[in-house]
Amino acid sequence: MFQGWNALLASVWGCCLIGFTWGQLSDSPDVLRNWCLDSDYHKPQPGPEPQLFSECSPWKERSCCNATVSKLIHHNVKVWHGFQFRHCPPQVSSECLRFFRRDFCFYECSPNLGPWVEFEYARKSRQQRFRNVPLCASECEAWFHACKDDLTCVRNWGSEFDWIEGTNRCPENAKCQLIRDTYADAKDFCETVWDNDFKYTPDNEPCMVLSFDPSSGNPNDNVTEAAISRHMNSINSMLNRQRIMERSFSCRISPSIAVSRGIPKLVCDFSFREFDKMRQLKGKPKETPRQKKERKQDFSPENQHKALRVALPIFVGFWVLIGIFIYLNTRPKH
Ligand SMILES: *[C@@H]1O[C@H](CO)[C@@H](O)[C@H](O)[C@H]1NC(C)=O
Ligand SMILES: *[C@@H]1O[C@H](CO)[C@@H](O)[C@H](O)[C@H]1NC(C)=O
Repeated sequence: MFQGWNALLASVWGCCLIGFTWGQLSDSPDVLRNWCLDSDYHKPQPGPEPQLFSECSPWKERSCCNATVSKLIHHNVKVWHGFQFRHCPPQVSSECLRFFRRDFCFYECSPNLGPWVEFEYARKSRQQRFRNVPLCASECEAWFHACKDDLTCVRNWGSEFDWIEGTNRCPENAKCQLIRDTYADAKDFCETVWDNDFKYTPDNEPCMVLSFDPSSGNPNDNVTEAAISRHMNSINSMLNRQRIMERSFSCRISPSIAVSRGIPKLVCDFSFREFDKMRQLKGKPKETPRQKKERKQDFSPENQHKALRVALPIFVGFWVLIGIFIYLNTRPKH
């Protein structure tokens, strides 16, 4: 009997768990730290590319782009994805162009964007994109500074251009104006220009740079590690909660609901003791003082409160299921 209920609860809880972690496309640290976007231009797996060109060369030890793509990014006529920086005449400054090339190399070559990858449904050229990658404030300020006196006609370069004959054009009625008049500040620029690829992040938090000196490794690797360990911690605390939940539920085959001031409450501690007794009767080994202490900690008021907040909705759902079960088993058979 216990087994049955526990399995049922585990599956109900399992659904919640999947719901919680849905945001990220993988829970494997190794997959997350070696991720190349699923797109027309990215390699399937990161690897060494000794021939990477110019602004892309920092990634040569471990790259998602190959030499051909790195050259295309720097090509002035036959450009990457047909994207034209010179969408507002007469031209774009070489300082600004350099930052956008770094940004393109970052996009094509970075193997460490796994934790920020999402599915992309709207485009043919790629099935995945990244979103809210933490970009160091100083890096963003430098990028904005390099481009602020250049011209553009739209705020979101990822979605607002008209694409005609394989290249981006300013939409009709869109006026070319200075980048510094188009965006409120550097943060607005970095976050908006590529449709929230980046999130402006203070330098004292883990954040990425668009270019680096490869002789001391890729500094963005550590930023990915920090994100992975945050993600793993949140999974662990979820599993922990699940453990508490399972215990609190397995104690309650005949649940007692105490109504205090009109609010139904689950009573855990009391019935848990009963379950313990039953477990002893079933001949399971007695818990050590340490296990006992851990169990008590699990049921500290704070954890009880937490468990309750999550438990109540599931608890109600649980009894609805039982109601259905009883109904199905007792309805008149023909
Ligand atoms: C580099 O990647 C591009 C795009 O995926 C591909 O067309 C090209 O053949 C590759 N070049 C080499 C040398 O592997
Ligand atoms: C990454 O972190 C490690 C230790 O956590 C440190 O030794 C290393 O220098 C860092 N790497 C970079 C490139 O910042």
